[in-house]
Amino acid sequence: MWNFFNNCTALITGASSGLGEEFAHQLAPHASRLILVARRNDRLESLSTHLRELHPHLDVRVFAADLTLPERRHALSDWLTNEGIDVHVLVNNAGLGDHGHFDSSDWDRVENMLDLNITSLTHLTHLLVQGMIVNGRAAILNVSSVAGFFPLPQMAVYSATKAYVTSFSEALAMELRPKGITVTALCPGPVPTEFFDTATRPGEEETASRFKTFPAFVVSPQEAVRAGLQAVARNRARVVPGPLLATAVAVALIIPFCIVRRILAIKSTSL
Ligand SMILES: NC(=O)c1ccc[n+]([C@@H]2O[C@H](COP(=O)([O-])OP(=O)(O)OC[C@H]3O[C@@H](n4cnc5c(N)ncnc54)[C@H](OP(=O)(O)O)[C@@H]3O)[C@@H](O)[C@H]2O)c1
Repeated sequence: MWNFFNNCTALITGASSGLGEEFAHQLAPHASRLILVARRNDRLESLSTHLRELHPHLDVRVFAADLTLPERRHALSDWLTNEGIDVHVLVNNAGLGDHGHFDSSDWDRVENMLDLNITSLTHLTHLLVQGMIVNGRAAILNVSSVAGFFPLPQMAVYSATKAYVTSFSEALAMELRPKGITVTALCPGPVPTEFFDTATRPGEEETASRFKTFPAFVVSPQEAVRAGLQAVARNRARVVPGPLLATAVAVALIIPFCIVRRILAIKSTSL
């Protein structure tokens, strides 16, 4: 599988923690260059130093940016052009959640989530895709979620954003396949990262503890990222990491939705 990534330039958004950091670690031995993007520059710099020590051949660049800002997305694209950097693998990983009822949500948090999970992912893809087509064989890996398959109460906006990411990725995969670009939606269930801290509203109980009701579906960041990269190398449009969760999703998708809706409604009261 790693042949696909040999000597590639990979751009990873949200590389300062969690899955993004793990993407950097798994791609580092194979890629020739990594571009690490997120807001926390100190984290990106220390990851970059660490990766350079482990892989002296690797060219690691850091670009600190708040991707919810269109001008920072343009700045990233302009910087790549000015540096003469062609991106072969785009990992649209940056994303965040908000746990709680929609009627009591804070609009700024909701808007930030829409901007990051939907607009920024779509815009960055738009900015880079032409160059990727010109370069020939390339890949886009969009980090979605199992939440994208099911409208989750108390994660209503988050799951809707991930439904967008999965749907966008599937359509793009069909459009871009003849042009030599693989597009994959990685749809993890719960993964222990900083995601749950970020999704917890100020003053609320930590969201992570609520997900302990689904221990069988939890996968490690290593497993989730490996499944995503494997799916890219195999030119798969979508992957759910973890055999148990993948089976549960496959079964849930053939159950009549009126039954799924009841299960989700009951489950949501225990979250
Ligand atoms: N963990 C899970 O259970 C789970 C399950 C399914 C899907 N996912 C998806 O996996 C992806 C990665 O999340 P994670 O679990 O690794 O969570 P995480 O540890 O919280 O990582 C989120 C990353 O997004 C970056 N980010 C947040 N706001 C940003 C902004 N405005 N501009 C640029 N970067 C920003 C963060 O960096 P800075 O704060 O430094 O900017 C961080 O690197 C997300 O798309 C998430 O929806 C996670």
